[in-house]
Parts: sequence; C-alpha cells; structure tokens
Amino acid sequence: MATLHDAPILVASNRGPVSYTLGDDGGLTARRGGGGLVSGLSAIGPDAGAVWVCAALGDGDREAVRRTGGALDPADTGGQRVRMLGVPPEVYADAYNGIANSALWFVHHMLFQTPLEPSFGAEFRAQWASYEAYNRAFAEALADEAGEGAAVLVQDYHLALVPGMLRALRPDMRIGHFSHTPWAPVDYFRLLPDDIARQLLRGILGADRACFLTRRWADAFAACCDELLGGTGNTRVGVHGLGADGDFLRERAHRPDVDERMAALREQIGTDPSGAPRRTVVRVDRTELSKNIVRGLLAYRTLLAERPDWRERVVHVAFAYPSRQDLAVYRDYTERVRQLADEINTEYGTPGWTPVVLHVEDDFARSLAAYRLADVALVNPIRDGMNLVAKEVPVVSDDGCALVLSREAGAHAELAEDALSVNPYDVTETAHALHEALTMPDDERARRTKRLAAAATALPPTRWFLDQLEELRA
Ligand code: G6P
Repeated sequence: MATLHDAPILVASNRGPVSYTLGDDGGLTARRGGGGLVSGLSAIGPDAGAVWVCAALGDGDREAVRRTGGALDPADTGGQRVRMLGVPPEVYADAYNGIANSALWFVHHMLFQTPLEPSFGAEFRAQWASYEAYNRAFAEALADEAGEGAAVLVQDYHLALVPGMLRALRPDMRIGHFSHTPWAPVDYFRLLPDDIARQLLRGILGADRACFLTRRWADAFAACCDELLGGTGNTRVGVHGLGADGDFLRERAHRPDVDERMAALREQIGTDPSGAPRRTVVRVDRTELSKNIVRGLLAYRTLLAERPDWRERVVHVAFAYPSRQDLAVYRDYTERVRQLADEINTEYGTPGWTPVVLHVEDDFARSLAAYRLADVALVNPIRDGMNLVAKEVPVVSDDGCALVLSREAGAHAELAEDALSVNPYDVTETAHALHEALTMPDDERARRTKRLAAAATALPPTRWFLDQLEELRA
C-alpha cells in the first residue's frame, strides 16, 4: 500500500476510529466510533500527520482493506490517516476472541471460574501463535509508517507484544504502551503459563513508558515484573487517568434526538400511585461479564423484597449493549441478564408498573437520555480499568444523580468521596446502597453531583493524550 514512511505520531489499537458494514448491493458504509482515543487524538489536529493503525474487525472492514490496500479514504475517517490491517480471519479470531478476550481479559478482570478453567492446552498454544502473528502485523505496519524518531502510543492488551517487536525493528522510535484494563495481582497473573506471562511482560517492557489508568493497576504491573523478571528494566511505569469529555457530552446530550428519547423513556417509567414520576436506578454497560449486571439485578430484587414500600415507586432502567457475541460465555451471560430481568418483572410487576426496563440495542442518544433523568446510577463492576459511565452521568445529569460505585472500578480512586461505595460481590450491601441513594436528600444529591462532575472532567481525553505524548518525547 501507499505509505509515506513519515508519520511523526502514531496510534495503534485493535478497534479503529471507523468500521465498515457491507451492504447487499456491495456498497460499504463507514461508521465512526467515539471514545476517549478518538477525542484524544483530535487534540493534535488533522495537520499533525498522525497515523492510526487498527485491525479489520469484520467482513465490511476486510472488504474496505481489499479495495483501498489498507489506507482508508479520509472522507470516511474525518480526515484522519488510518491504516487498517487485513489480518486473515482465522488468525484474527484466535488472537482477538481466543487470547485477548478469553485469556488476557479474564486474567486482568479476574473472571476465571478456576475449578474448571483455564487449562491452557494445545488450543491455547495454537491461539497464542496467532496472537504473535497479529501483534507482528501491527509492529511491521507501524515500523513502515513511522518517520525517524516518531512517537507511537500502543493501546491495550490486544497489543501487548507490539512494543518489544517494534523496538527490535525500529530502535529510533519512542514507544508508549497504555493499558485500559486493570492489571491482575501477581498471584492471579501467574495463572498464565510462565513463558507466556514473561513474554507478555517483556513485550510491554519494550516500550519506553508503560502506562495505566490508576496507580493501583500500575503497581500491580510493576509487582508482576518484579516477581517474574526481577524488575521493569529501563521502562518507566506511568499513570494517566482518563476523564469524561465534558464539552462534547453537554452539547451532545441536549440535541433533539436525546430529548425525544427522554420523552419515550419517561413514558415507559411512568408515575407512582401519587402521580409523581417514578424514581429511576439507571445502568448503562456493554453486556460484559466484568460489569456485574447480574448482581446489580439481584441487588435491585433484594431492594424490592426487603423494602416493599419501593414497589410501584421505582424503575431499574438497564441498558446492556451486546458485546463479543462470538464467545459462548458472553452469549450465556446476556441470556442470564434477560432471564433475571424477566423473573423480576414476573415476580413484582403489576399492570401499570414494569420494575425492570431492559434495552439491549446499542443507542448512544438513549444512553444520554437515561443519564439525564437518572436519580441513581448503578456502576458495580467486578473490576474495571476506569469506567467512564461513572464519570459521564454526573456531567449530563439534569437534576443530580446519586452514584453507587464499585470500589473495584478505577474511577473509584477519583470519585470515592461523593459516591456510595460498594463491594461488587456483596448484593446485600449493594441493595442497601441503592436504598440510601434513592432516599438521599435533593440538596445533598445536587451537591455531590456537582463535585463528581468536576472530578470526572478534570482530565479530559485531549489532556490524557497530550500528556502521554509530551512525556514520551521528553
Ligand atoms: C475495553 C477495552 C477496549 C475495547 C472495549 C470494547 O474498554 O479496553 O480496548 O475496545 O473494551 O471491547 P471490544 O472487544 O468490543 O473492542
């Protein structure tokens, strides 16, 4: 493909800023993604000559790569130079579903059900070879695109081997690696086969800087390096918290499509026996095992069981958007969420009251609508690198929103003072926290929401991005 070998700044991530769907007529439709990385990169502007290297995720993306040679049409990317890699589908599936999402994601979020899994047999070893090949494809593309002394920010657990591979190809480059996930404690990380665990650490240590969202995850990484490699060598371990994009959210949350969805949601939520709008407990997540949606529903059921006075007066609005549905364990989890929501509605629902309103189709405008009207936000992950929902809700809330927040979310380090903290495994405690949140006096809720919003926007994505770039070039 055409490459200018001149990019001064590069970003590498599995999921890129745009993805394509292939229509029946053979036409390609580009859909731009949001997220911290997109808004972070926008801070340097389109003239900076940055290149974003990402993978083709599905058939539409692979077709776009076939037609363009991988250098995407800037008209599809908002002017951003994007190089999309067409990794063979079987290799991609093994790397993404097999290693990244079944092994590494599970290790860092401590999700294994250890009496049965993992077992790291022959299938795992074959998948590992694909993970290496996929990482090598990234390292080679980056080496190809980068100008002399260029800086690259490599993202996440999908690409843990890239820094080491790239260092060997291009010793002149400044390399940063950023983990958006938690990092596993040493004893848990050592569930991985020793050689693989060492390879992962050495891969990341190929970077000049290995960065994390909180001190806790950075310390866990350093502890793993100490234990398995005797230290972090010359790599500096850094922390860069990522906040909500306040300006974008406030503007986006007041567009007409959000207002429309608020009206529809209000209709669904309805009014209590006195005629007042029902109270709402809102959650918005990908249907992801680490998000702990099932225990959230159990806590809500406990609340209705223990405190009958809440019946007819509260609605749990749960948005659980599909995620990683190629994996059976995710599909099963999604099914469990649906079942439990149905069970609660059957058990407690009345002709005029649906206790749980569950939506599974991804709709950003509707999420913002729910953020605006939420009385309580429930963010109870088992473990989470940061969790941006906890930061976005207080920013766009209309009348103040109490936040029930897991102490295992990275965001907890920044928001604990004004949130109601819970142990995500403790359904009883979570139910009590929901009650406390629902009965919080209006003025206190408003006060806390204001402080939460300030803390949540202290490190906007642009700053998160520029700080890393600056440190890397220093
Ligand atoms: C987490 C990861 C990201 C990932 C996102 C969505 O936030 O840190 O790297 O992109 O989940 O997951 P998906 O598998 O859909 O890309």
